Amino acid sequence: MHLLTSPRETVSLDGEWQAIPDQYEMFREYFEDFTDDDVPGFDPIYEPNASLENDPVDFNIYDGYSVRVPSSWGEEIPEFRHYEGWVWYAKQFDRADIQDGNRERTFLRFGAVNYRAEVWLNGERLGDHEGGFTPFSFEITDRLVDGENVLVVRVDNQRYEKGIPDPTTDWFNFGGINRSVELVTVPEPFVRNYKVETTLSGGDDTVRIAVAAWIGGSGGDTDTGTPVSVTLPELGLEADLSSDADAAGDADGPTRYHAELSVPTEDVTLWNPSDPRLYTVELECGDDRVEDRVGLREIRVDDGDILLNGEPIWLRGVSLHEEAAGKGRALEAEDVETRFRWLNELGCNFARLAHYPHTEAMARTADEEGILLWEEVPAYWDVKFGDETVQQLYRQQLRELIQRDWNRASVALWSIANETDHTDEVRNEVLPEMAAFVRERDDSRLVTAACFVDETDDRLAIRDPLADDLDVIGINEYYGWYYGDAETMHEFRDDPTGTPVVISETGGGAKWGHHGDEDERWTEEFQAAIYRGQTRAIADIEQISGLAPWILFDFRAPLRQNEYQRGYNRKGLLDQYGRKKAAFSVLERFYRARKENAASDGRSS
Ligand code: GCU
Repeated sequence: MHLLTSPRETVSLDGEWQAIPDQYEMFREYFEDFTDDDVPGFDPIYEPNASLENDPVDFNIYDGYSVRVPSSWGEEIPEFRHYEGWVWYAKQFDRADIQDGNRERTFLRFGAVNYRAEVWLNGERLGDHEGGFTPFSFEITDRLVDGENVLVVRVDNQRYEKGIPDPTTDWFNFGGINRSVELVTVPEPFVRNYKVETTLSGGDDTVRIAVAAWIGGSGGDTDTGTPVSVTLPELGLEADLSSDADAAGDADGPTRYHAELSVPTEDVTLWNPSDPRLYTVELECGDDRVEDRVGLREIRVDDGDILLNGEPIWLRGVSLHEEAAGKGRALEAEDVETRFRWLNELGCNFARLAHYPHTEAMARTADEEGILLWEEVPAYWDVKFGDETVQQLYRQQLRELIQRDWNRASVALWSIANETDHTDEVRNEVLPEMAAFVRERDDSRLVTAACFVDETDDRLAIRDPLADDLDVIGINEYYGWYYGDAETMHEFRDDPTGTPVVISETGGGAKWGHHGDEDERWTEEFQAAIYRGQTRAIADIEQISGLAPWILFDFRAPLRQNEYQRGYNRKGLLDQYGRKKAAFSVLERFYRARKENAASDGRSS
């Protein structure tokens, strides 16, 4: 079970770390083959004394490249930009800094490390993790020593055939410890995680709030019997949670508790984009207390519409990668703010965070800003779905994302895949299983995937069998850029009561500042014309309940190397420095008009 950090107070290990590249993957079994075990001086790099006592020694974890954590190593050390391989990170911290006082247990948590991580503390191996975009943690209570502790992390950003994603993507493979590293100290027992779910559609004017809490931690803590309570002070709600020790859940984990609360609808401001009201929720268990802010809202589909709090909503969005010029994947608070400023300027009420879990700060800010989110795991293009280890990794990444962000009202859609081959039988078997896996963990949100539309004899139609397993179908189409005419979506076979469709990608490339005729590729005018054609074509298709063009800003992409691209995908409405292209205002005008009309056609906005 995901270890809750924010909103807890934690001890940050961010800041200066040492980094040592190990391109030939030698320092873990350092010359092990050449020496007998009892010959001192050839200890592996993760042994705190190896750097000091090996003689001679070819690395020094106390004096490597000085890098900031979090960061993407190519941004910190220019010669590492295109490096794909092992890098050893090291950090010392003093136990006194932890101040664990009456707190019995301490965990080490990583926000995200791309791609594989192997971790040692004081020479003891804690474990490893695969997947570049989701959090993981280790208990270190019994591994800490008084005084200086030495943390060593082997980071490997190589691309693997059986990886998720697989080796070929249209984004840059930023290696590094790309998100924060923290120490979390908790009393025993403690709230490892919790979940709040809101339901309206009970047919009466009551809002039902289901609360679950997972008490204890890995290592099979038994049900301590300590009372667990929840309070929503602003609504005057409180309840004791009852344990359902027999409830299904991840086997290795904590005991689940739950409670049901209800409140008259008129007493609650339901979270929505124009009024993103958040409520305080407090969970208490023994000496442990967690206080968080959550929005209460219901999202579901019915009769061809996406319903937010029972009202049809049209999703005015845009897609974006997690990247900032000069920072790679390691976004800072100011970068998150900038992205929401752009989203608000565009008139968005929705954003597709592609193609992998973005930093948790995006969802927390979206909660405050009133922006609905599409979140996704990088099951992208040619992932080896038939392989059991790949399927396990797939479930792991889905579980890690869902359990991290399931309390964010802004998160409306879990996307299980992007542009995968719907003629592949294995894919058509595995993806429905993943959709079910998601619903078992969270059936209070919509399951989607970015699929293709098919050209049948006369019309465009959805032929992907996965559509039957989705609540919302994402369609990636590039009419006017890769093929066809920008208005071709007029041919879409509309089914107003069918599964709602969101255009999860569309658009075209343009180099900022490159101007010319509307029919001249790579000009801002050409891109703007595509946006005019696309928005005209989809505006009146009833089955289409939203749009998230590709993409908010230009991003690094090794597949893009022509004279306009130079290593960047240029489909941004802004370039990588945030400079607007002409298409930005085309979409802005389209969304402003939709927003103004939303009230008139009865859809919430
Ligand atoms: C695909 C893919 C994106 C890619 C985009 C493009 O649809 O999902 O990751 O960047 O097309 O071609 O620009």
